[in-house]
Parts: sequence; structure tokens; C-alpha cells
Amino acid sequence: MSMEKVFCALDNMTKDEVLSFIEKSNGKLKNIKVGMELYYAEGPKFLQELQENYDLKIFLDLKLHDIPNTVAKAISSLKDLPVHFLTIHTSGGTQMIKAAIESARKNLPSAKILGVSYLTSLAPHDLKEMWGIEESEIPKAFERFFKVGIEAGIDGFILSPLELNILSSVEKEMKANVLKVTPGIRFADEIASGQTQDQKRVLSPEEAIANGADYLVMGRSLSQANDLMARINEIESIH
Ligand code: C5P
Repeated sequence: MSMEKVFCALDNMTKDEVLSFIEKSNGKLKNIKVGMELYYAEGPKFLQELQENYDLKIFLDLKLHDIPNTVAKAISSLKDLPVHFLTIHTSGGTQMIKAAIESARKNLPSAKILGVSYLTSLAPHDLKEMWGIEESEIPKAFERFFKVGIEAGIDGFILSPLELNILSSVEKEMKANVLKVTPGIRFADEIASGQTQDQKRVLSPEEAIANGADYLVMGRSLSQANDLMARINEIESIH
């Protein structure tokens, strides 16, 4: 499997730590995911600096969620930044999704808009508490999110690998094909030894790809690897 399929999440890192991590990968890292913490701390200049110095695609994970006009304007403030993927909350609704896409096409033509559905940190009891969704209704609840997003013209979704089958069946039903980007990835040996940290629903890179993921988001398995190059070789040796 090519490293082109992997976005490495740079969480809990300072700018200097990010730069030294990128250097450590010897050019093998092709894509990175910059989250709110890094973007709020370092701002657009940092993205420009990354673009000037490295050949990396950037996934800007801002998880935008506000009224349509505000989201559209927020995206226009990112104008011409090197952004390959940008996230919004699908729960912002059809008008917000459409406004985000329209603004992205104008201001960030290289960016694809990915929808977040329910955050993986939410347990079934949270879904019940906030939206009255019973555990047995959870797959249907995801299905509704995917349908709303696709109907509004979204480019893809960021979703747990265990929700890939729900999205695939929605795609079939709607004759659609959207990008599927999955976090919640751990190497098989990490899963076997219980090193999944706060991720509850995880699959290995090969399983996620086999289940239909187009791209993987991998954070700590790479950023905290004892031997980063060995882990990169492991990904590259997956068929
Ligand atoms: O370290 P780890 O591989 O768990 O990092 C996963 C990354 O994916 C983090 O940046 C996390 O915020 C993000 N993410 C996630 N689940 C989602 C959406 C994003 O874990 N549903």
C-alpha cells in the first residue's frame, strides 16, 4: 500500500515537533492532517511554510459547524491555502453543507469537503441522551447523515472503519461514489496487545482498505512509533 493513502494526524505536537517529525520520515510521509490545536496555534502561515518546504498534501481538520453564511465566510478566509481535505460537521444540515461546498469551490479549488457524522468519542448512551437514538437505531442514524451529505453534494466522509459498510450500502442505493476517509486505525500488533488508547472502534490498515476506505488517518501509531521507518515500511509492504 502506498503512503499516498495515509494522512498522518499531527496531534499534540508543537510546530518544531511537527517539523522534526516530517524530517524524520525521509520524504516518505506524503500527507498530513493538521487539526484545530495546531492551526489555532500556528495559523495559515504555517500551512504556507509547509507547502514551501515539503511536498505534502494537507488535510485541514477544522470540523466547521455554524450557520451556512458563517461557514462559507470561514472557508473564504482560508482562500488559496494548500488544503487538500477540509472537514465540516454534516449535522450542520443541508444548507450549511451546500454553502461550504460552494465557498470551497470558489476559494479553495483544490480542497475536497469531508463530512463528520457522529464523533467517535460519543458512546451509545450519548446518542440516546442527546438525540433519543436507541442503540438499535444507530446504523439508521448514520445512514441519515450519509444521505443528507450526499444529497447536498459532499465530496466524502470521515468515518470509523466500522461504519464503512453503512456508507457503501447508501452509495449503492443512491448510485453515488464519495471519498471514504477513516481514522481509528491501529497496526495488527497494537490491536492484539490492546494499544488502542482512546479509540474504541479500530481496524488495521489492511482491513480498513479491504472494507472500502480510500484514505486512512493514522495518528499515534506513526507519531509515537518507536521506529517510524519500520512502521512506514510495514504500510508499504501491504498488498
Ligand atoms: O492517534 P489516532 O490514530 O487515534 O488519531 C486519529 C486522528 O483522527 C485524530 O486526529 C482524531 O482527532 C481524528 N479523528 C478520529 N475520529 C473521528 C474523526 C477524527 O479519531 N471520527
